[in-house]
Amino acid sequence: MNRKVKISGVEMYVPPKVLTNEDFEKMVDTSNEWILERTGIRERHIVEKGVANSDLASEALKRLCNSKGITPEDIELIIIPTVTPDMFFPSTACRVQEKTGAKNAWGFDISAACSGFIFALATAEKFVRTGVHDRVVVIGSEVMSSIIDYTDRATCVLFGDGAGAVLLEPAEEDEVGLIDFICKIDGSGGKFLYMPGGGSLNPPTHETVDKKMHYVHQHGRQVFKFAVKEMANVSIEILEKHNLTPKDIKLYVPHQANMRIIKSVAERMGLDESQVIINIDKYGNTTSATIPICLYEATKEGRIQKGDYVLIASFGAGFTWGAGLMRWEI
Ligand code: UT7
Repeated sequence: MNRKVKISGVEMYVPPKVLTNEDFEKMVDTSNEWILERTGIRERHIVEKGVANSDLASEALKRLCNSKGITPEDIELIIIPTVTPDMFFPSTACRVQEKTGAKNAWGFDISAACSGFIFALATAEKFVRTGVHDRVVVIGSEVMSSIIDYTDRATCVLFGDGAGAVLLEPAEEDEVGLIDFICKIDGSGGKFLYMPGGGSLNPPTHETVDKKMHYVHQHGRQVFKFAVKEMANVSIEILEKHNLTPKDIKLYVPHQANMRIIKSVAERMGLDESQVIINIDKYGNTTSATIPICLYEATKEGRIQKGDYVLIASFGAGFTWGAGLMRWEI
């Protein structure tokens, strides 16, 4: 079987607590001006102690079911891209299945950092396309605040917590739905963005904790350069493959890591500002959740209508990067 697949629903959830740039001025040697100018971020949402990834993901999934008029029992497969699972195992998908009562679903987590949502969507789509499942959800969900060193000004101001969920179903009409994905990795970039502690290479010890190895470590400038070049390249590559140009795109939805990265990529591609969504000012970098949160807001704000070409693109630790092309359905 080779069916057309569409995103038929999208929802999001962010925890209520907000950390503003002014809050960071009291915590580390930084300023609202530096953060705004260098990243575009004004505020980000952060969980209260005791709130886990599966709580955010479950809330996003419940909202998705409500808005679609279905129940979690109707879901057949849950895929959760994340680098901040509740724990190594069981998977966050298992935790969400239990918390939401999605008792007919199986599921698993995917690790691809900021490209997690695109890699998961590219995976999920195959299950619907081949007729294995009719209702699959992908929930990009992160509690980045659980792996951030709030004394390191170079990383702590960048990240936020949140979840975005999409429902995939077969598309009845040919002119809407997911068209193609290009996903790439380059392991030689691993040294520029990583969390060295806690896994099998450096199992947790007092020493790994003392050395702050359970936090995000990033060489920002190297990541920045690679991100701009490769996100633009992969976006052009997928458009050319389908005989499209940037002008054909109604909305470009890039991973939200830095406003300057987004603007540089858009400039390289020759996109107009009106074709690009930027909401990093409100949420910071929520890793695998940025793209579904953008898709939710774009839909709510009426920026995309049925039949519009939408191009999503990401870049993240690994390095991982990719693009996804679709015609919007909702
Ligand atoms: O989503 C996953 C992929 N990640 C990314 O795409 C992130 C890519 N990188 C970036 O977004 C940027 O590189 C950062 C926002 C992380 C940093 O911006 P930058 O313009 O590349 O700054 P930099 O790291 O080169 O640092 C410039 C200066 C340094 O001071 P000196 O050495 O020039 O005196 C930093 O210590 O800015 C300093 N700095 C800060 N100053 C005030 C770094 N962080 C801060 C801060 N407040 N929060």
